[in-house]
Amino acid sequence: MSLSPSVIPPGPVTSRPGAALAGEITVPGDKSISHRALMFGALAIGETVIHGLLEGEDVHRTATAMRALGADVTRDKDGTWRVRGRGVGGLVEPTDVLDMGNSGTSARLLLGILATSPFTAFMTGDASLRRRPMGRVATPLERFGARLVSRGAADGKILLPLAITGTADPVPVRYTLPVASAQVKSAVLLAGLGTPGETTVIERAATRDHTELMLRHFGASVTVAPAEGGGSAITVTGLPELQGRIVRVPADPSSAAFPLVAALLVPGSRVTVRNVGLNPRRAGLYDTLREMGADVTISRPRTEAGEPVGDITAVAGPLRGVEVPPERAPSMIDEYPILAVAAAFATGDTKMRGLGELRVKESDRLSAIASGLASCGVEVFVDGDDLIVRGKGGAPAGLPADSAAIPTHLDHRIAMSFLVMGLAAQGPVRVDDAQPIDTSFPGFLALMRGLGADISTS
Ligand code: S3P
Repeated sequence: MSLSPSVIPPGPVTSRPGAALAGEITVPGDKSISHRALMFGALAIGETVIHGLLEGEDVHRTATAMRALGADVTRDKDGTWRVRGRGVGGLVEPTDVLDMGNSGTSARLLLGILATSPFTAFMTGDASLRRRPMGRVATPLERFGARLVSRGAADGKILLPLAITGTADPVPVRYTLPVASAQVKSAVLLAGLGTPGETTVIERAATRDHTELMLRHFGASVTVAPAEGGGSAITVTGLPELQGRIVRVPADPSSAAFPLVAALLVPGSRVTVRNVGLNPRRAGLYDTLREMGADVTISRPRTEAGEPVGDITAVAGPLRGVEVPPERAPSMIDEYPILAVAAAFATGDTKMRGLGELRVKESDRLSAIASGLASCGVEVFVDGDDLIVRGKGGAPAGLPADSAAIPTHLDHRIAMSFLVMGLAAQGPVRVDDAQPIDTSFPGFLALMRGLGADISTS
C-alpha cells in the first residue's frame, strides 16, 4: 500500500548506456533528519515548521504514526510541513496498528518514544521490515521498564509485528551499544527523554548524530563526553520541555550519491547537486571516492540549522581500487551498494571491510550487491564481513535487457545502484522492481532522465 502517489509503477525498470550526464540539480531532503523533525515536533510544545521535508514513503509513515499518537501534522500547499506537538509525555494511545512500511528508522526510533509512553501500541511493517531485527532496540528499552510481545520469540528473535506497553514509571538507563547503530542510539535517547534523570548511551564508533544535534535545537540538554574504554558517552536529561522550532532539512547525501556516482562513471559527465548535507558522520563515501581518484569537489560550504551543507560536483574520470577500513563503515553505511558499483568500474580491487551491518538493512545488502554484480560479469567475493570487488578498469558487461532482472528485494538503494550501473555498463541493466525507490527518493527516475540518463519502465 502506498501512502503517497507513486510515480514508479511496480515492475521492472531498465537503464541503458548512453550520452554523458550533465546538469545542476537538487535531490530530496535528508531522510534521517526528516523523520526526526516530525517526531521531535510531535514531542514539543507549540509549532514546528519544517522546510524541505523528504516526501518519500518512509517519512509519510512517520507522519501518519505521529498523527495516530495525537500530534497535528499538516502540509501547506508550498510543501512546508507543520507539526503541533503534545509535549514530552503527552502522546495518546493509537486506536489502530502503526504500520511503518519499509522504514527501519521510523520503527526503531518510535519504539524508543513508545517505551516511556504509558500505553500499549501495536506495530507492523512490510515484508522487508518484518524480517529486520528489533531485539537490538527491545533489549535496552526493556531496561527502562517497557514490555514487548513480538513475533519470532520461539526462535529467540524479536520481529514485527509486535506490541509495546510503555512504562509509566521509567528508570534511567546507561547503555553501551553492542552494534554501531544510530537507530539504536536514538531509540535509547528518546526513551530517556520520557524518563526522569539522566540516560546515557555509550557508543564506541561514531554514528550519525542528527538526534543529538536536533534534540538540542528543540531545547533538550544533550551532552557528549569521552567514554571510559573509548568512544563517547551521550547523556540526555529527561522530561525537558521541548519547544517547537523551524527545521530546514538539507538534501540527503545518501540520495545525492546516486547521480554523483553516475556522473563519475559515464564518460564526459559533469553533475552538481546543490545544498547537500555534509555532516562528517555521513560523508565517508565522498572521502572514499576521492581516495579512488574521483574528481569530487565541494563548493559554497555553509551551516544551516546546525548542519554543514554545500554543493557537490562530480566529473567523470578513471577510478582506482582502494581499501575502505571498517572504522569508516558507520559514516557511509548506506552508500556501500553505490560504492560497490563504482568499484566495478575502477582499476584493481576495492576491499570494503567490516560490513556485517549490511546484512540487516532493507535487504541482505552484502548478498544482494554480490549477486547483482556477479550477474553483470563482475568478479566479487564476500569474505566474512568483507566485500571485495575486482574492478574491470572499464565498463562491466551489464545484464541483457531481455534476461532475468536483478532482484531488488524491496530495497530502494539496491534498485538505484544497479540502475546507475546500467548507465555506464556495456549493456543495459534491468532491475525487477524499482517501486521501493519511492521510499527515499521520489522523483529519482525523472531527475536522472533530466540529466540525460536513458532509463525506461519496460
Ligand atoms: C539511520 C541509521 C542507519 C541507516 C539508516 C538511517 C538513522 O541505520 O542505515 O538508513 O536515521 O538513524 P543503523 O542505525 O541501523 O545503522
